[in-house]
Amino acid sequence: MANDTNVTWHEHQVSRTLRETQKGHRGCVIWFTGLSGSGKSTLANTLDHKLHQMGIHSAVLDGDNVRHALNAGAGMLRGTHGDDFAERFGLGFTAMDREENIRRIGAVAHLFSQAGIIALTAFISPYSRDRDRVRRTMDAGEFIEIFVDTSLEVCERRDPKGLYKKARAGELKNFTGIDDPYEAPTAPELTLNAGDETPEILVEKIIAYLGTQGIINLNP
Ligand code: ADX
Repeated sequence: MANDTNVTWHEHQVSRTLRETQKGHRGCVIWFTGLSGSGKSTLANTLDHKLHQMGIHSAVLDGDNVRHALNAGAGMLRGTHGDDFAERFGLGFTAMDREENIRRIGAVAHLFSQAGIIALTAFISPYSRDRDRVRRTMDAGEFIEIFVDTSLEVCERRDPKGLYKKARAGELKNFTGIDDPYEAPTAPELTLNAGDETPEILVEKIIAYLGTQGIINLNP
């Protein structure tokens, strides 16, 4: 099966250190995890905005957007090989599809980080083993896991896309938190409760953390 024996890993000439020196901050992956509607995307985008204002290079990878392109579902994929192509490469919400979703996002986020960018990812990423596998591909301190700890009750009350309602009605199967599991992180770098505080206040906590870790310089 393995067909990658003739693939060589190229050493890049512009090193990560050179890129980071040019930018004045380190690259890393800030991995938001939490239920649908917990506030991951809002936090990632608020943080992105704030970092941009500070002259820091960041980029957001967001569940709903990535699932329209890189990790599109079978129904959205149009290859030249018809249904076989879509069935094989389109991603849905089974445990195996979610694993592949997270593996691809992890690889892309890692590339961003190696390019000296602060990658912000907002995916439910419900399985600990999938998140841990991504963590293991990175250097110590490079993967910053943030648990957006908003209760199911609050997420369901918000229900911004009406999906909890559909899941409760049985119209949507395998919905995280309803009839599919969510495994909360046991040792995240940060836990934030987006049910109690504003995104701006929570983002300040993340910025302070990045400062203490030497990823960004808060006293330039
Ligand atoms: S993950 O589990 O693979 O990490 P991801 O973050 O990419 O999920 O996508 C989650 C988004 O897809 C949700 O916010 C919701 O809008 C939508 N979605 C559609 N079906 C499901 C489902 N069965 N479970 C969870 N989210 C779903």
